[in-house]
Amino acid sequence: MNNSEKFLITGAMGCIGAWVVRHLLDEGTKFVATDLSDNPARPRLIMSDAEIAAVTWQKLDITDAGAVDAAVKDQGITHIVHLAGLQIPFCRANPSLGAAVNVQGTVNVLEAARHNGISGLSYASSLAALGPPHLYPRMPVPNDAPTAPTTLYGVYKVANEETARIYWQDWQVGSIGLRPYNVYGVGRDQGVTADIAKAILATAAGQPFHIRYGGPLALQHASDVAKMFMTSARARHQGAVVCNLRNDVTTVEAFVDLLTQLYPHAEVTNDSSNLLPFPADLDDTILRSLITDVPHTPLTDAIQEDYDMYRILIDARRINLEQLKL
Ligand SMILES: NC(=O)c1ccc[n+]([C@@H]2O[C@H](COP(=O)([O-])OP(=O)(O)OC[C@H]3O[C@@H](n4cnc5c(N)ncnc54)[C@H](O)[C@@H]3O)[C@@H](O)[C@H]2O)c1
Repeated sequence: MNNSEKFLITGAMGCIGAWVVRHLLDEGTKFVATDLSDNPARPRLIMSDAEIAAVTWQKLDITDAGAVDAAVKDQGITHIVHLAGLQIPFCRANPSLGAAVNVQGTVNVLEAARHNGISGLSYASSLAALGPPHLYPRMPVPNDAPTAPTTLYGVYKVANEETARIYWQDWQVGSIGLRPYNVYGVGRDQGVTADIAKAILATAAGQPFHIRYGGPLALQHASDVAKMFMTSARARHQGAVVCNLRNDVTTVEAFVDLLTQLYPHAEVTNDSSNLLPFPADLDDTILRSLITDVPHTPLTDAIQEDYDMYRILIDARRINLEQLKL
């Protein structure tokens, strides 16, 4: 615990955000957990009701520049982990709202950092900033490979990265942007790539499950990713850098095989003809140079941890299994 630190988390009701809250609580670090939503469904999966009640939650819409600035200023914030955002299907369904939340919202966070002297800032970009695998013949894909987004969500994330670059150039606001690929773990329940987490949940629930894609992918455990964001904010990076993530580079098929080997009752299938449109084999040397000991729970251990947590949640009727219906 470091008593001089006080974190502000945006998107704290989300999957990664809930894990940041979990870890900061465990450390005893001071923080304010903010989100537009006030539904603690995801935090409830990984925290007790007493722990949730002890957290300072604040309803904050990141599209409201004044509110973001006030949240940082009024509470003596020293570090920001910026995770609030709308995922691919939501940006596609409502591009204007997607731009307001993902682009303008990130500008608001950078402005708040600039005007309140915050030197520890990490924010979520995404692998969706990159294009399809054939554009990247060199493996592992270097950190500075050109961006080539194929979705509005990816375009907005590139805008975040470029905005952060200019905030360093013009006002020396330092930042580290992380590009998760496929985050899995308890609390991951939205978007196509959540199928990996759901396959583990379905197995724990004794239900069949079909993963809608196949082929290469990189998996990052939600708990590990949350720690990466915390450590990146603490790095107080002097510059604006964006980092690819790596951890488990595998295939959906190998994941299904491993899950079935660990839990022979698993009834998980996948669509091997539908490949994810991103390269999976990414070089994370830059991240390793910025934060030592990049958190990485090996895939087998992480699956077993998740399975055990899901079993407890299912028995306690604390998790909604409706999410397994696609
Ligand atoms: N999960 C992944 O695999 C993955 C991969 C790449 C990038 N990312 C990025 O990481 C970040 C966190 O991901 P996640 O999986 O935790 O997402 P999530 O969808 O679980 O959580 C996002 C949170 O943002 C909040 N939010 C939406 N609009 C808001 C607004 N106007 N103001 C404040 N909060 C708002 C939502 O209520 C939600 O709690 C996102 O920016 C996402 O784009 C995630």
